[in-house]
Amino acid sequence: MSERAHLNNADLFERAKLVMPGGVNSPVRSFRSVGGTPYFVDKAEGPYVWDVEGKRYIDYVLSYGPCILGHANPTIVDAVSVAAGNGTSYGAPTEREVLMAEEMCGRVDGLEMLRLVSSGTEAAMSAIRLARGATGRDKLVKFAGNYHGHSDNLLAAGGSGVANQGLSGCDGVPVGAVADTIVAPYNEIPQLDESIAVVAVEPVAANMGVVPPNPGFLADLRVACDEVGAMLLFDEVITGFRLGRGGASEWFGVKPDVWCFGKVIGGGLPVGAYGASRELMASIAPLGGVYQGGTLSGNPLATAAGLAMLDQLTDDAYAKLEATATRLATGLERVFTAAGIPVIVPRVGSLMGIFFTDVAPTNFDEAQVAADNGIYKHFFHGMLERGIALAPGPYEAIFVSTVHTDELIDQTIAAAAEVAATL
Ligand SMILES: Cc1ncc(COP(=O)(O)O)c(C=O)c1O
Repeated sequence: MSERAHLNNADLFERAKLVMPGGVNSPVRSFRSVGGTPYFVDKAEGPYVWDVEGKRYIDYVLSYGPCILGHANPTIVDAVSVAAGNGTSYGAPTEREVLMAEEMCGRVDGLEMLRLVSSGTEAAMSAIRLARGATGRDKLVKFAGNYHGHSDNLLAAGGSGVANQGLSGCDGVPVGAVADTIVAPYNEIPQLDESIAVVAVEPVAANMGVVPPNPGFLADLRVACDEVGAMLLFDEVITGFRLGRGGASEWFGVKPDVWCFGKVIGGGLPVGAYGASRELMASIAPLGGVYQGGTLSGNPLATAAGLAMLDQLTDDAYAKLEATATRLATGLERVFTAAGIPVIVPRVGSLMGIFFTDVAPTNFDEAQVAADNGIYKHFFHGMLERGIALAPGPYEAIFVSTVHTDELIDQTIAAAAEVAATL
C-alpha cells in the first residue's frame, strides 16, 4: 500500500495547523464558520473533487469561481502543459499576453487597455491607485459586504472570509490606511462630493451571499459618479466572463470607468487584471506616474490557461451555465419550501447563492441576519455527508460549471431534499 493511502483529512488538518494559521492558506477553507474538519483535496476532474481519503464530491466551490468549465478541463490542461514545457516565467513580454489583452478588450465594451496581474487583490488595489492617480483625489467609497481582496484600504466591512471571521475590519491595518475609505450600504446611492476619487462596487455582490443590485442601482451610481467627477470601478473578479462574454457591464448595460477581473480569466491559475479606456490607462507607468509591476504578471502559464478558457466561453457555454444554475436554483427553492424551511435563492445568470430566510437581503446588514441563523452550517454538513461540496461559509456563492449535468443537478436537489427533512 502506498504512503498516500494512509492519508486522512483529520491527520492532515492536525499537521496543517502546526505549520499554517488555521491549517490553511486562505481563512474560509478552515471550516471555522461551519465547524468540523476540512476535506483535503487529492485531485479533481470535471464536476468532481476527491479528497485524500478517496471520497468523491460534486463540487460547487470550483475554486470560488475560476473553474467555470469544471476541473482539469482537457484543453486548459494541454495548453498549460505545453506552455510549461517552454518555460514558466521570463520577465519579458510574450505574444500570449497580447492575445489575452486583445481577447478581453474585444469582449468588454469600453475596456481598451489592461494590465495582467497575479490576483484579484492586486487587480483591485491597482485599479484604486489608477483612479486616485488619474483624478488626483484620495477618497474611495466602497459598499459594506463587498469584498475587493485583502489590501489595506479595501478590507473595511469586507464580505467573504472577513465576514465569516466576524471581524469588523482587520488587525494590523493602520487607521491611516482606511482614513480615506468611506463605507456605504449596498443598494443605496451614497452622498458623493468632489473629494471622491472612486466608487468601487461588486456589480452583483457575491461575498455576502449573492445579493443582486436593485433595478437601477448601478445606473444611478454611474450618474452620481459623473455628477462629481468620481470614477466608477466595477470589481468583476467574480462576475467578469461569468455572467456572459461582456460580464456585468454588458449584463446591466452600465459602463464603469475602471474594471478589475480575476478568477475565470486564469482558468485556475493565479491571475488578475485591471483595465480602462486607453486615455485613463495612460496614467500607468511607464506611460504615466501610477506605478504597478509584477515579477509574475502576465505569466506564460496563466495566459495559456486564460486563453484556453476564454476560447471555450462561447454564447452556448453561457446559455448552458445559466440553464444549469436555473435548474439548481428552482430545485433548491422547491425542496426547502416543501419542507417548510424559508429559503431565498438569488440568481443572476449562472451566479447564485442561498439564504435561509423569507425576504431577499439587499444589503450587508440584512445578509448578516439571514446568514447568521445557523441553518447554513447544517445544510452544508448534510450536503457534504452526501458527497456534495458547497463553500464552507454562508457568505459565498454556489458555483456551477459547464460540466455539471442535469443528472448531477438533480442528484444535488435530491440530496438537499433529504437534508431539508432533517433541519
Ligand atoms: C469581487 C472580488 N474581488 C476581489 C477578490 C480578490 O481576489 P483574489 O482572491 O484573487 O485576490 C475576490 C475574491 O474572492 C472577489 O470575490
